[in-house]
Amino acid sequence: MGRKVKNLKLMMKNIAEDIKTVLEFYQAMGIERIPLNTIQDTGYKTQDKKSHASCILHHASALNSQQKRDALQALRDEIGDCQRCKLSKGRKNIVFGEGSVDAEIMFIGEGPGEDEDLQGRPFVGKAGQLLTKLIEKMGFKREDVYIGNIVKCRPPGNRDPEEDEISACSPFIKKQADIISPKVVVSLGRVSTQTLIGVKIPIGKLRGKFYQFENIPLMPTFHPSYLLRNPKDKWLVWEDAQKVLEKIKE
Ligand code: URA
Repeated sequence: MGRKVKNLKLMMKNIAEDIKTVLEFYQAMGIERIPLNTIQDTGYKTQDKKSHASCILHHASALNSQQKRDALQALRDEIGDCQRCKLSKGRKNIVFGEGSVDAEIMFIGEGPGEDEDLQGRPFVGKAGQLLTKLIEKMGFKREDVYIGNIVKCRPPGNRDPEEDEISACSPFIKKQADIISPKVVVSLGRVSTQTLIGVKIPIGKLRGKFYQFENIPLMPTFHPSYLLRNPKDKWLVWEDAQKVLEKIKE
């Protein structure tokens, strides 16, 4: 057998072993099915003629800053005075999201709390102050990154958003991520992480490792509200943040 054939066989054996290791890892984490994202389906279908934002989004990765601003505004217009789910009944303001359209890092939380509902801005309460500190410790200003949530209206009494509310609202934050095309998405807490990567594994098991969200690396970490209750775990979030900083340098 020629040397080339032997090398090829060895390479294929290594690849097969790598795949086996990865599958065993997924299995150990309780993942039973893996979606095959062979074609990147952004969900922005041409039949959605009403949506100006959707049309722009087909070319999101090629958008310049002004086009991104326009696409976000078109998306905000599409949301309008949203009544798509029951959270609309109790809200004071829709919290669309804010930050730089050219952000390298996008933070995605769960949903607005009381302060956010009152001000119409994400992460402005106590948890938000902690998030802002983290952003600054990472060497950015809050305005340099983009911050949004899975649901844009406050769940009553700060309960977790329910499945129907998440299904109605989460397509919008996914479109925002597509428009902004950050180098990394950081998902804050269980609801955000499970929604974006589509698995029901506890955040403690998911955090600290990169996953793929659309075509963007996603780092799950603990939610700042959790850190307010468990400050001893702040160092873990700092570890995750350092991996994010490494990733954006690549
Ligand atoms: N918690 C969140 O998940 N999002 C906010 O905007 C505020 C608190």
